[in-house]
Amino acid sequence: MNIRSYIERLRDRNELLEVVGEVDARLEVTALTDLASKHSGPGLLFAQLRGSRFPVATNLFGSDSRMAQALGYESLASFGTELRSALLAEEGDTSERRLQRLLQGPHAEGQSIARSVHGVDLDLLPDIRFWPAEQRSFLTLAVVISRAPKSSAQNYGLYRVGIVDNNRLTLNLLPGSGAGQHLELWRAAAKPMPVAIMLGADPALIFAAAAPLPHGCNEVDFCAYLTRSSIRSSRCQSVPLSCPDSVQLVIEGWVDAGTTMNEGPFGCYTGDYGGSNDTPLVRVSSLSLVEEPLIPLTVAGPLPMEDCWIARANLEIIRARLAIDLPEISSIEMPLTAAFHGLYFVRSREISARVDMLAQRLRGLDYLRRIKLLILLHDNAPPVSELNWRELLRETPEPQIWRAPSADLSTLLNDHPHKLQSDHQLQTRLLQRLRIDYTEITAQQG
Ligand SMILES: Cc1cc2nc3c(=O)[nH]c(=O)nc-3n(C[C@H](O)[C@H](O)[C@H](O)COP(=O)(O)O)c2cc1C
Repeated sequence: MNIRSYIERLRDRNELLEVVGEVDARLEVTALTDLASKHSGPGLLFAQLRGSRFPVATNLFGSDSRMAQALGYESLASFGTELRSALLAEEGDTSERRLQRLLQGPHAEGQSIARSVHGVDLDLLPDIRFWPAEQRSFLTLAVVISRAPKSSAQNYGLYRVGIVDNNRLTLNLLPGSGAGQHLELWRAAAKPMPVAIMLGADPALIFAAAAPLPHGCNEVDFCAYLTRSSIRSSRCQSVPLSCPDSVQLVIEGWVDAGTTMNEGPFGCYTGDYGGSNDTPLVRVSSLSLVEEPLIPLTVAGPLPMEDCWIARANLEIIRARLAIDLPEISSIEMPLTAAFHGLYFVRSREISARVDMLAQRLRGLDYLRRIKLLILLHDNAPPVSELNWRELLRETPEPQIWRAPSADLSTLLNDHPHKLQSDHQLQTRLLQRLRIDYTEITAQQG
């Protein structure tokens, strides 16, 4: 399913609000998206955006139902149950081996959409500002393709991309990311790294690029497993990589050894500005696009936001893998409003489980290496919910809590006011101007 057919599907299911009338790409997209994300609202399609030549869609994954549909399921629970049964039915001593076997299956042929080559001109892209202090536009659902110098195996990672000028970009590669590891190898070989950055990839591929898959599993194969059809790819124009044919817009380029730029502040899930790191720079060599590309974006900000649902779907993969790798863990929970903070509640079948030893074992798994806070619950503790998790955390005795030195409890518990606040006056003015009823953007349950 490509991004256009996914949007049509959401429209048919009344899970999309097309915003009619002009909206400013600076702050106004955030004002409306924040409202929708925080109140179980629909996906938003901005057809007339001042500051963008192309339509932009946000909050496309912002509910259980939408995130599940992007993967071809009706609910995330059914996605998790099916994946877990499929992994249990495979042979292999680790979840990594079983996943590899699972993804080998034959798949039906996928779709192609004609893209034409355009001159290198990043001014075509939406000039978006999510939050007031951001100095540049960011692409927040960009799938980045890279590979190691002497390998044809491609990695697909979801990383933040900043637009510097009309032919340069920044790439925010966290330590340990697939593309970050490739870049080290290219630097060691004193050669520039080729990359292809996809905007408007198939929804299941956008998800796969952010999913906790082992290095031996390819994101495109995972996408093919989910959608039950293979992804057709073609060679890129100017870099030695190949790129799926169903994507709306592809930016190709090179990351030169040692050239970096500060990406400037970026509003993030902590409710504060992050970013401001020295990030690798991409020199763009080619741009190709379909006739009227649709650019999906996600707005990061104080939780809950759309990206929590991506994290929630990731949790289903984590659960399915844990059932094989550490079967003594009987449950693992991550509240939506704690997504990305590295906080997990676990229950263990081992009566005498010690939280520090459990933390060590869990952090040894590639998909849980970023745990920062682990809370070991007794079997008789109540189920973890969005309403009670802070209370559960406060009430759990210290010996059942494990904290990494970098864990920031006060941000997590909202002990201080956020810098990133919704502008309620702007939201009210916008709803009036665009003649959108408050219930249209907030009341639709996914
Ligand atoms: C909305 C969103 C934005 C993300 N941004 C980044 C980012 O800027 N840099 C990064 O390294 N990881 C980012 N991640 C996490 C990666 O996508 C995730 O760790 C993924 O597994 C990376 O794939 P890799 O292991 O192939 O690098 C983001 C995830 C989401 C859901």
